[in-house]
Amino acid sequence: MSELNLVLLGPPGSGKGTQGERLQQDFRLPYYATGDILRAAVRDGTDLGRKAKEYMDRGDLVPDELMVDVIAERVATSDAADGFILDGFPRTTGQAEALDAKMEELGRELTAAVLIEVSDDEVVRRLGGRRTCVKEGHIFHVEFDPPKNEGVCDICGARLEIRDDDKPEVIRNRLDQYHQKTEPLVAYYEDKGILRRVDGAKPPDEVHDRIRAMLATLRMEEQL
Ligand code: AP5
Repeated sequence: MSELNLVLLGPPGSGKGTQGERLQQDFRLPYYATGDILRAAVRDGTDLGRKAKEYMDRGDLVPDELMVDVIAERVATSDAADGFILDGFPRTTGQAEALDAKMEELGRELTAAVLIEVSDDEVVRRLGGRRTCVKEGHIFHVEFDPPKNEGVCDICGARLEIRDDDKPEVIRNRLDQYHQKTEPLVAYYEDKGILRRVDGAKPPDEVHDRIRAMLATLRMEEQL
């Protein structure tokens, strides 16, 4: 089976984490979510965490020079030899170019950049109701994907919390940052011929089925 090197693209709250968790189960590939990595670094009080926190609290992007090595190191490990799923990286043209350079150095290529498309209004509705598990980061929504017991993670039993950056004023800035700095990557990957669009407004199971079907088609095409 050929390797699967996947980038998940989309605005905040589009469902990258929700789908990333499912795709990780489907394909048994390492899943690297820069938001999760940064939040763990903040919790652990590492140098990266201390530097990143002020940007994250405002909903700004963390500078490229702090982010690039975080992912470059991970995609080069033996864990990622059969592929990987990236969520939240790249987020700027500089990060995308750095990833391309790393892939070239490794003699590999990205398979697809999957863009999960949702409107800004939907983003605001989703992030307002998101609940995240404090232990393992599993994701729920009070209305669209409620846990069986309120405030408790179905998967590991940990407490669910509201993320610090899910406050209305921070959500607005995260959306602005997405439109200014990350949206140009849609054209970037379109030009490379690897962009795949998915309607993220559908329910989570449908979005998941659609992405799986798309990846199966891609793999079949590769084998022709
Ligand atoms: P990060 O954690 O990556 O945040 P984000 O991109 O804003 O994405 P989210 O995690 O908010 O949303 P998501 O798309 O994963 O949606 P989810 O599945 O949770 O980054 C946080 C911060 O870290 C950034 O602001 C920045 O400061 C920094 N950072 C991270 N990476 C960086 C980088 N590379 N460079 C610089 N800075 C970086 O879903 C959202 C909600 O909707 C959930 O409640 C879910 O249950 C629900 N939901 C999901 N799918 C559906 C559906 N289909 N229908 C209905 N509800 C749904």
